Amino acid sequence: MSNLKKFIEGMPKAELHLHIEGSLEPELMFSLAQRNNITLPFSSVEEVRAAYEFSELQDFLDIYYQGMGVLQTEQDFYDLTWAYLTKIHSQNVIHTEIFFDPQGHTDRGIPFETVIGGIHKALQDGQSKLGISSHIIMCFLRHLSEEAALETLEQALPHKDKIIGVGLDSSELGHPPSKFERVFARAKQEGFLAVAHAGEEGPPEYVGEALDLLKIDRLDHGNRSLEDDALTQRLVSMQIALTVCPLSNYKLAGVKDMRKHPLKKMLDKNLKATINSDDPAYFGGYMNENYLAVFDALDLSKDEIMTLAKNGFNATFCNDAQKTEMLAQLESFESQWT
Ligand code: HPA
Ligand code: ZN
Repeated sequence: MSNLKKFIEGMPKAELHLHIEGSLEPELMFSLAQRNNITLPFSSVEEVRAAYEFSELQDFLDIYYQGMGVLQTEQDFYDLTWAYLTKIHSQNVIHTEIFFDPQGHTDRGIPFETVIGGIHKALQDGQSKLGISSHIIMCFLRHLSEEAALETLEQALPHKDKIIGVGLDSSELGHPPSKFERVFARAKQEGFLAVAHAGEEGPPEYVGEALDLLKIDRLDHGNRSLEDDALTQRLVSMQIALTVCPLSNYKLAGVKDMRKHPLKKMLDKNLKATINSDDPAYFGGYMNENYLAVFDALDLSKDEIMTLAKNGFNATFCNDAQKTEMLAQLESFESQWT
């Protein structure tokens, strides 16, 4: 293994784009199905993995919503989150900001409290037992109505202390950010920060709407922003970070050859790109695999790897003292590297 690969694996990292339901590995899916007396439409872990062939976002989403059906009790959400935390601990992730999709559960009759309770308890243990700090971001499913999102926001208010921000995910095309302008205005009024998936499959105009109408503090994916020079310049001057997810882009076929991944172009244009895993159980890798995929394909330098890692810490929703402390850990790791 090259020296730089070891550097990537060992360096402290922040993850900023991770759907906790997308970290459900087939093995856990089977054991939760058994625990909850649910029959899966698959007979083995291998069969589940073989079904993970996607040609676009919707193919993935269909199987992702089906998979999360095994999550029923607070303990299930705890176990899911704890499995993710132990995995990223082994990859030297020291801070994570995770998404969850409350409507994917409340629409199946699982109470909001059950979901947030299990996730939050695991994150508390992640801090005390593994030293991983974290924030929770609640996403609205954009294929559902504005009214449903508003209802979900109301359900979240008693848990405001556990949720730092709101996001927007699911089927992008045909569901522009403008559909949720009032929801995000209300969320901002309540003190939530805001992020949104935009420019993953959708056009650059959706990224513009996310900035102008949703007033996002960070952009999820954002790949298609590069098609519009003025928009790109705006993102640079506003210092909006992009949470890029290389293996997700590859698996959902936006990027057919990793050597053509736009990450290098983003860095060259001074966009604040970060590396993240999105739905690691479905796309074939956690943080290190995502870093290594672009490192190999784009021949990134150590300086570029450091820039990505620094962008990650700078783009967290942590206070300045914590950002400084995490950046110092990264620099100390680099200075000890031979
Ligand atoms: N895009 C949109 N919605 C999602 C994703 C994604 O990559 N993962 C989980 N929900
Ligand atoms: Zn995502």
